[in-house]
Amino acid sequence: MTTADLGKDPSEVSAMFDQVSVGYDRTNALLSGGNSVLWRMATVKALDLAPGDRVLDVAAGTGTSSRALAKTGADVVALDFSPGMVAEGRKRNPDIEFVEGDAEALPFPNASFDAVTISFGLRNVNNPHVALGEMYRVLKPGGRIVICEFSHPPAPLMKAGYQGYMKYVMPAITSLSSTHRDAYRYLMESISDWPEQAVLSQWMRGAGFTRVAYRNLTGGIVALHRAISPEDSKVRESIGKRRKRPASPSTAQTPIAPTDQT
Ligand SMILES: C[S@@+](CC[C@H](N)C(=O)[O-])C[C@H]1O[C@@H](n2cnc3c(N)ncnc32)[C@H](O)[C@@H]1O
Repeated sequence: MTTADLGKDPSEVSAMFDQVSVGYDRTNALLSGGNSVLWRMATVKALDLAPGDRVLDVAAGTGTSSRALAKTGADVVALDFSPGMVAEGRKRNPDIEFVEGDAEALPFPNASFDAVTISFGLRNVNNPHVALGEMYRVLKPGGRIVICEFSHPPAPLMKAGYQGYMKYVMPAITSLSSTHRDAYRYLMESISDWPEQAVLSQWMRGAGFTRVAYRNLTGGIVALHRAISPEDSKVRESIGKRRKRPASPSTAQTPIAPTDQT
């Protein structure tokens, strides 16, 4: 399987993650230069979880993101569609509930979580709009969503440095430590193809979320997007009606309004 063949076909993405499941966390820690710990801490803080809150970690992989959430005393459900990642996650985190399932068809009833989060997962999902809609559906009114994802540094100097890192340093590191080089080439390509912060904010509004805001981490290499599911029943009703209408591809993909950056 080559990177070009991979595309974002769900079964191929799942098979790719199955193959990297054991060495995945080690390579990631190396690639992020230790920053992944800070990104996870920022995600947990933004979710503002209280003990007993029910939180869904979508695309949880081996559960590294879920473990950070569980430390707050929240009741964590970790979901991933790669059987290999889920098996490794269960082995490493016997205290966390793992569910094998698809972010685009979440196997949970409406309004069943106080918070939903996805770290470095939305970029891999075949249709992120469908996944956002599903996360909206399973969130209780007033519930929080936090998305931690690679993004695009806005400052030219940082951008140039990051591009150089992706082109030269990352391939060298992955060739030393990764169990599957194609997977990390896919990682680099999926990061450059991923939309900018303002576009993801717009997608979140399109899914129905309100109070959408984002914060850049490590100069924008990663962005933390957060929002809430509206509580007002009239607002929810009008969102429900809007979402029943077929979406126009142009409004789904294009940045329209300036985002409220925090
Ligand atoms: C880069 S890993 C992130 C894992 C974890 N959240 C973390 O922060 O370390 C991305 C994960 O997304 C999962 N994934 C991709 N598409 C998915 C989908 N449609 N449904 C569920 N999981 C998916 C992959 O199996 C993989 O485990």
